[in-house]
Amino acid sequence: MKIHLICSTLRKTKNFLKTYNSTKLDFTRKLLKWNRESNKRMMPWKGEKDPYKIWLSEIILQQTRVEQGWSYYEKFVNAFPTIHQLAKAPEKKIFKLWEGLGYYSRCRNLIDTAKKIVKDCGGKFPASYDEIKKLKGIGPYTAAAISSFAFDLPNAVVDGNVERVLARYFGVTTPVDTTAGKNFYHQLASALLDKKSPGIYNQAIMDFGAVICKPQNPQCTGCVQSKDCMAFKNKWVSLLPVKSKSIAKKTRWFYYFIIETNDGRLYIKKREGKDIWKNLYEFVLWENGQLMPQQQIPESDFVTQFFGKQKFSIAGISKIYKQQLTHQTIHGQFIHVLLKRPLSFSEKKEYLLVKKNKLHQYPFPKLITAHLQNPVQQLF
Ligand code: ADE
Repeated sequence: MKIHLICSTLRKTKNFLKTYNSTKLDFTRKLLKWNRESNKRMMPWKGEKDPYKIWLSEIILQQTRVEQGWSYYEKFVNAFPTIHQLAKAPEKKIFKLWEGLGYYSRCRNLIDTAKKIVKDCGGKFPASYDEIKKLKGIGPYTAAAISSFAFDLPNAVVDGNVERVLARYFGVTTPVDTTAGKNFYHQLASALLDKKSPGIYNQAIMDFGAVICKPQNPQCTGCVQSKDCMAFKNKWVSLLPVKSKSIAKKTRWFYYFIIETNDGRLYIKKREGKDIWKNLYEFVLWENGQLMPQQQIPESDFVTQFFGKQKFSIAGISKIYKQQLTHQTIHGQFIHVLLKRPLSFSEKKEYLLVKKNKLHQYPFPKLITAHLQNPVQQLF
């Protein structure tokens, strides 16, 4: 009886593996055929073999859509064709080029890593998954992408596109944002990887997720995988992949005082610390936890304390701008203040006094550049 049971279990496992392996081979084979014959997706970093340029593209594409990252990649490659040129460039110039992309810690890491590779390795990019993963700002996804694209090493990428394709094709219901989900997707993606051409396979599955198996309006009709796709067969396409958490968003209110001296200079300051927009510049900020009626701003405690006995007039107040970040919504309003003479610098030493026509040399958050490009103001 016992022996019979063991034999039956073994048979079942063997059958499962057989089915699984043929499904697995089917998936990979069809994906590569689609890639060879029908994939028309063009991107400037596709097929690139220089690890420095691949690294640049992958850092830009972390948390950024391809359409937005494209021109930034081209600007960076043109300005700094080699890692040596990036490593020796002034930081302000690099941040200025990054302006508008968001998640500025990526830019900080880019600079630090370029300097480190030049100093420690003579500018030669590390050529193993483990060495690449040790670099600042590089996690498992980015290390797999660089090592497979540049060195054809057999590391499978798992990003949002890959999770969606696998969740739908295999009918995976484990949430993607759990440890169990992450481990499972990693194992599945590694098992499916074409070990003979990992770079081509990784780019193909990401492209397939971006152009066929899209989050909205996926192209299931005519999809080469639909015959064996669990989600298609069960009408689960719009339900997969599953996420366990919804992200809570915080709302913040920023009141920026654009303080102008009588000789046309403005006070700006570099943002420091752990908060958003580190290393970008801003005007004098009053962050208030709430929406303020315009008329109350000049009488606020902040204004009384900041200006003290200093004489000033308010030239205008802007509309309220909104910038949506992943976990925060920022509302910003600009108050244009005119001074008869500069504020005492001993008190305001953290600020720079910059000529209006030199402002464009500094990197600012999107909320501020939006206002500077179109500074419509009103007086209450
Ligand atoms: N997102 C991150 N890396 C990518 C790549 N190489 N191609 C398309 N989208 C990506």
